[in-house]
Amino acid sequence: MKVAIIGYGKMGKIIEGFLIERGHSISFKIDKENFHQLKDINRENTDVCIEFTGPNSAKANLEILVGNGMPVVCGSTGWYSELTFIQELAVKNDTSFVAASNFSIGVNLFFEAAKDLSKIMKNQDGYGVSIRETHHTQKLDAPSGTAITLSEEVSSVLEQFDGFSLNEEAVDAKMPIYALREEDVPGTHELVFRNEIDEISLKHIAFNRNGFALGAVVAAEYIFDKKGVFTIREILKLIG
Ligand SMILES: NC(=O)c1ccc[n+]([C@@H]2O[C@H](COP(=O)([O-])OP(=O)(O)OC[C@H]3O[C@@H](n4cnc5c(N)ncnc54)[C@H](O)[C@@H]3O)[C@@H](O)[C@H]2O)c1
Repeated sequence: MKVAIIGYGKMGKIIEGFLIERGHSISFKIDKENFHQLKDINRENTDVCIEFTGPNSAKANLEILVGNGMPVVCGSTGWYSELTFIQELAVKNDTSFVAASNFSIGVNLFFEAAKDLSKIMKNQDGYGVSIRETHHTQKLDAPSGTAITLSEEVSSVLEQFDGFSLNEEAVDAKMPIYALREEDVPGTHELVFRNEIDEISLKHIAFNRNGFALGAVVAAEYIFDKKGVFTIREILKLIG
């Protein structure tokens, strides 16, 4: 595949390594300095785009790429209020699109395990539920997209929850998410059930960014010759 990398930062550089290792070529490397080249990406020169820029730039980038009929894998987080608009644009432009708050196989297995634990805890009175996430200090959005997805997965089982609160105790059926920022942490997420007697928790620790990057490349290999809107769970065959 000929792949355009949009956002040549921490993730973009690791994604490039996996693409080359898996026999693909890079058609464009777009970052802030040459973002005007985005409009030059088309089906003639590129098979699929992988976008990892950030919350402030994702929507505008996706509007151009998807608007030009390009298949896109989007890893940027913090822009999901515009997700439906971009998904509809992909369908309208007869192309393919997948966005995920976390492309790693391990985290998507963790989501499945979190739902199973929530089912076990559903009828146990007295346990408070919360999520803790820790990321590196350069992260722009809080809570992380992964923590929000985790809260949505848990809320699909524990139906008393409606949304989340950030860094405060449970209020009005909001699931508390505590977001911590520390140097050099790629991403740690923990689902916690706690009462005054004990605590049960389920935790995922990413040791590096390789899992996210490899998952994004696998997603690009999956969607580049398809049409439609996909989820990372169906791409990783974790439906069930
Ligand atoms: N979905 C996942 O699995 C996953 C995993 C890790 C990170 N992320 C998300 O991916 C995004 C990028 O993360 P990162 O750690 O690589 O960040 P980063 O800051 O290291 O890299 C982002 C790059 O995008 C560039 N950029 C910013 N605006 C741009 C624009 N308009 N056009 C082109 N390039 C632009 C920046 O100059 C920078 O080089 C963040 O939103 C992060 O939360 C997602």
